[in-house]
Amino acid sequence: MAKSYWVVILPGDGIGPEIVDATLDVLETLQNRSGRFTLIYEFHQAGAGCYRETGQAISDEALEAFQRANATLKGPVGLPDVRRPDGTEAGLLGGALRVGFDLYANVRPIRLFPNVASPLARKDPDSIDYIILRESSEGLYLSRGVGLTTRDAATDGLLMTRRGCERIARFAFRLATEKKRGAPEDGRRRVTLVEKSNVLRSFAFFRGIFEAVAEAYPDIEHECLYVDAAAAALVNRPGHFQVIVTENMFGDILSDLGGATVGGLGMCPSANIGDAQAYFEPIHGSAPDIAGRNLANPTSQILAAAMMLRYLEEPQAAAQLEAAVWRLYAEQGVPLLPGGTIEGGASVFVKALKNILKTQDDAPSPGDATL
Ligand code: IPM
Ligand code: MN
Repeated sequence: MAKSYWVVILPGDGIGPEIVDATLDVLETLQNRSGRFTLIYEFHQAGAGCYRETGQAISDEALEAFQRANATLKGPVGLPDVRRPDGTEAGLLGGALRVGFDLYANVRPIRLFPNVASPLARKDPDSIDYIILRESSEGLYLSRGVGLTTRDAATDGLLMTRRGCERIARFAFRLATEKKRGAPEDGRRRVTLVEKSNVLRSFAFFRGIFEAVAEAYPDIEHECLYVDAAAAALVNRPGHFQVIVTENMFGDILSDLGGATVGGLGMCPSANIGDAQAYFEPIHGSAPDIAGRNLANPTSQILAAAMMLRYLEEPQAAAQLEAAVWRLYAEQGVPLLPGGTIEGGASVFVKALKNILKTQDDAPSPGDATL
């Protein structure tokens, strides 16, 4: 009997609905092929459009479904002109979902696919293949909505807790163990803590905890790198990294930098994982300027669905999907335009991907188990 999973779908704003639709289309082909699992969807509106209509970025009903579902697949959210009275963007769900459900681990694989032009010179596929693990329950962004403002000054605080640092450090070492390959440069398993302990006490605190956790994983190399040096290294020497663990805002910034080195953010999926819930989404925003114009690259959303399948303990289906995406890039190429959009958009991509899925053997993944 096929196993069934209850999955909440939040299509989001801008290009969200088109890349989520494309992903569901591909998932249907994958389910038919595999016959071993069924995904049962429950759709909810959430994001900036929802905020504009209802005054809430996500309804209580959707939050309840999110809490009870086996997993959630979320499209990008946000519309730049939908803002709260305090000037911040409305409709972003990071606070409600990541902090609200204590989804502390934001896993962001950065991987160079075949035939994708990296702006870095002479890069082969998989010469960039690392995971950024962004702590997402504390750090600077915990100050969301609670920073202090007067007429002449404003402040946001950065919080690090022992529990938060310990659990994310452990998660990083587990990821380094589970990922199939070590760092592309030398094959070594290596966890790099990105921090700023030369200036801030909070990062010195994180570093101390990281060093202590590392003792339990003697087979995995570990190192600490200041965030400014890390930004340079991600450009100069990306093959050095296997798993990077860092604070919330640093992870936000560096994952966009990493995305730019592998063909744009449209290539990058992510998982938000806690002890009881998880959701899966692209790392990018909702790109309202290209919405509805057949330009959006659905790769990030489709690879996010593969991460979801792995989380649901359907590793074979996850591997099949990743292998099909890899083959599409390797064998047919994908007409990526500068800026990361694709000619023909999600529908052209999905058609080609479904053909590969229908004909491929139960191929082993050419890539990594990231979770
Ligand atoms: C991301 C996004 C969000 C974040 C924004 C939209 C608040 O940039 O997931 O990286 O930083 O949390
Ligand atoms: Mn971001």
